Amino acid sequence: MRAAVGAAALVCVVALVSTRAWGANQPEAPIEPGRDYHSFANVTDFRLRDVDLDLTVDFAASRLTGRVDLKVARQNPGAHTLILDTRDLDIRSVSLIRERGEAKQLDFKLGDAREFLGRPLQIELPDSSPTATIRVAYRTEPQASGLQWLTPAQTAGKKHPYLFSQSQAIHARSWIPLQDTPQVRVTYAATIRVPDGLTAVMSADHEPGDSKPNAQGLRAYRFRMHDAIPSYLIAIAVGDLAFHSFSPRTGVYSEPAVLKAAAHEFVDLEKMVATCEKLFGPYRWGRYDLLILPPSAPYGGMENPRLSFITPTVIAGDRSLVSLIAHELAHSWSGNLVTNATWRDFWLNEGFTVYLERRIVEALSGKRREQMEDVLGVQSLKREMADLPAADQHLAIDLRNRDPDDGVTDVAYEKGKLFLAFLESRFGREAIDPFLRGYFDHFAFQSIYTEQFLDYLRANLLATKPNAVSEQEIHAWVYEPGLPGFAVLPAADVFAPVEDARRRWLAGSLSTAALPAKQWSTQEWLHFLDNMPAELPRAKLDELDRAFALSASTNAEIAHSWFRIAIRNDYAPAYGPLAQYLTTIGRRKLVRPLYEDLMKTARGAELARSVYAKARPGYHPIVQTTLDAIVTPAR
Ligand code: BES
Ligand code: ZN
Repeated sequence: MRAAVGAAALVCVVALVSTRAWGANQPEAPIEPGRDYHSFANVTDFRLRDVDLDLTVDFAASRLTGRVDLKVARQNPGAHTLILDTRDLDIRSVSLIRERGEAKQLDFKLGDAREFLGRPLQIELPDSSPTATIRVAYRTEPQASGLQWLTPAQTAGKKHPYLFSQSQAIHARSWIPLQDTPQVRVTYAATIRVPDGLTAVMSADHEPGDSKPNAQGLRAYRFRMHDAIPSYLIAIAVGDLAFHSFSPRTGVYSEPAVLKAAAHEFVDLEKMVATCEKLFGPYRWGRYDLLILPPSAPYGGMENPRLSFITPTVIAGDRSLVSLIAHELAHSWSGNLVTNATWRDFWLNEGFTVYLERRIVEALSGKRREQMEDVLGVQSLKREMADLPAADQHLAIDLRNRDPDDGVTDVAYEKGKLFLAFLESRFGREAIDPFLRGYFDHFAFQSIYTEQFLDYLRANLLATKPNAVSEQEIHAWVYEPGLPGFAVLPAADVFAPVEDARRRWLAGSLSTAALPAKQWSTQEWLHFLDNMPAELPRAKLDELDRAFALSASTNAEIAHSWFRIAIRNDYAPAYGPLAQYLTTIGRRKLVRPLYEDLMKTARGAELARSVYAKARPGYHPIVQTTLDAIVTPAR
């Protein structure tokens, strides 16, 4: 399970409810490809071009306070109302900034809140000039869904507070009023005022800021993103940050206490960027740095341009989880350069990126490691699809009246990857690689939807070998559920020795001490644990835990797989470490299945509720929303 949509039953209920409750919206009406159903913005009337922020970071109040200047270009000469996306924003005033800098107050209105979407901000413009600069003075609310405010106690250093954003999918609107749709691309600039002693970073060029704090003890950092990006890639973090450089264009930021481990884990970062360039064309964003977030980070990684945000749970000590870095880096091509125009097209971002990620892993860590990750990916996809309604198994997914964060399933990632692997099998790498490079070039700095990709595919790949792939096959991949019978699946034989060991261990012919696990990679451990039968005898659990200290594993992925087994078997000795795990780690993909598993039994549910009561304040707002529905559902 990669996160997202929980039990099938729950999804069906949601689907039912939404059909009824939004009858007026006609969810059954055919979807319009390219139309973003998750934004209020009237993008055919106005288009945002540039965002200029001036924000003060107020840790005492958990608020950003200040203003944004929005440069908009009029698309429709008759349009006079600009509609922006907001969620939980306290809007103070709106004005038009004239040539010489003078401001004219404008009328504005916040519309009603819509579930998942927030509230439209309607601004009346007085004239019909082709461009305008609109200033919105505002502050964010402490519960802004796109920001997490951490107390010093929630950081590694325990001395300073920490703030970070997560704008994807539609949370940028909770900290900036703007056209929050991936089909609008903007450049941005920012002045960020932070308490002296803390460092601000953004997904942008870092420009010289103030060298000294002002009378209020605030120091300004300045940023500029020169390339046009979608709003979900605007990102900020503020904390006690140190930096380690790997090469003239790569490095890693983290809290000082974590820097040494991070520098060791990601030492090959420059090699990774160079490998990507060889495969997919030049890296177009200048620098590539990592920011290691505190453990409450809701996602494994977030591909903020020039500065990927990364969960510390990938620091395993042995570099075994660096494919996640390959993934976020690959988004510099698939996602950040060529972007999904709507959340229905999310597979264009993630499916391509997983394909690129596996190519990088193959080039850097070898075919065997790549095959292991492929097999684990397909297993995870099949398990997840078994619980998904048919319509959610299409690559092009209808997310109307749903939170787009709930569209995050393995379908976009692993089925999307298998589609590209299928194309590779029919056309060969010698054709796929130049095709991909041409695709990134052709659509660079643009946002496209599924059908635009398919047209490009037909014209530039399919046409080169007319009988290699049929229209029915394309249709099956994109608009039909499940995996097509003609999918090319990875051979599972890389795990044959692990399979064999598990079988003999379960049968009793191989003792726990004789398991060849000392040499196993993280991937082999995951395969061993994830494919255990539902029930295991207590003695076997004791033996495993004693021999390999699984409950105490510092590898967050292995610990996760072990805890799932422990919960299924009510293995009480693991509950202490499990509670500890759930109160330190906030990555949704890792904690959500554990809570789901716990909630299946009365005893587990009791534990889940007591742990959640303690852990909840430390989770990111996005993860709180997901877990509330699982652990404390409204009845
Ligand atoms: N862009 C995603 C994270 C994301 C997706 C955030 C949708 C919000 C909405 C990121 O690139 C990603 O896919 N992260 C994965 C890790 C990856 C190795 C599959 C994750 O967080 O698990
Ligand atoms: Zn991704």
